[in-house]
Amino acid sequence: MREILVAGNWKMNGSTTANKALISGIVSAVPEGSGFRLLVCPPFPFLASVANLLSGSKVALGAQNVSEHDSGAFTGETSASMLKDVGCEYVIVGHSERRAMYAETSVQVAAKFQAAQTAGIIPILCVGETLAQRESGTTQEVIDEQLDAVLDSAGVEAFATAVIAYEPVWAIGTGMTATPEQAQDVHKHIRARLAEQNAVLADKVQILYGGSMKGENAAGLLCMPDIDGGLIGGASLKANDFLAIAKAAAQSYTNS
Ligand code: 13P
Repeated sequence: MREILVAGNWKMNGSTTANKALISGIVSAVPEGSGFRLLVCPPFPFLASVANLLSGSKVALGAQNVSEHDSGAFTGETSASMLKDVGCEYVIVGHSERRAMYAETSVQVAAKFQAAQTAGIIPILCVGETLAQRESGTTQEVIDEQLDAVLDSAGVEAFATAVIAYEPVWAIGTGMTATPEQAQDVHKHIRARLAEQNAVLADKVQILYGGSMKGENAAGLLCMPDIDGGLIGGASLKANDFLAIAKAAAQSYTNS
């Protein structure tokens, strides 16, 4: 059975003071049980201090972006080995905000995915369609293009140490959540796409849902057969909201 991953993408939020309160609220009330893992992804300047706050807890640390380059004259960039150095186990690559606002291409995202793995970090590859793409019936083509860029460059075996997050752009920060059935349809498609090349591996890959996930809708999403966790924005910024999703994850693993 696949473990559930509940990952908080803090985006550009936080401060030294706020982070202390948030992390202590989370680590002091991690639900009992097994079969699930919690992860927080703060902005770069806070990675080292949050790593400190997390030490001795069961909550993992990740970053929100990484350079595709190793080192050198890339002003403002952060390499995967630096992330590893400060204690990151995961990094988000290809978030739709980066694709849309910073013009990251699928080829560049694939290079970031590989840079992370080379440094021993698990990439969380984000894929997802816009509302216009969904309405024009091209959701699967969009997902396939984003996924295939990584499959073509890294190979299906690379997904043995990677996580995928399906994040419909229209559900991000809008309060509009994909229904469990809508999300399940896409998750199933993603797994099938990987299974065309390696069915055993495809069955093991964690596929997270992201887009206005919160305590009230988490259980319904997490009980779907191909939804293995959540990538959470807004609701990851308050300990109680994040813990409500963690509780739903613990419960869902126990029930399945
Ligand atoms: P929200 O949970 O705020 O919709 O954000 C989702 C997201 O983009 C996580 O990466």
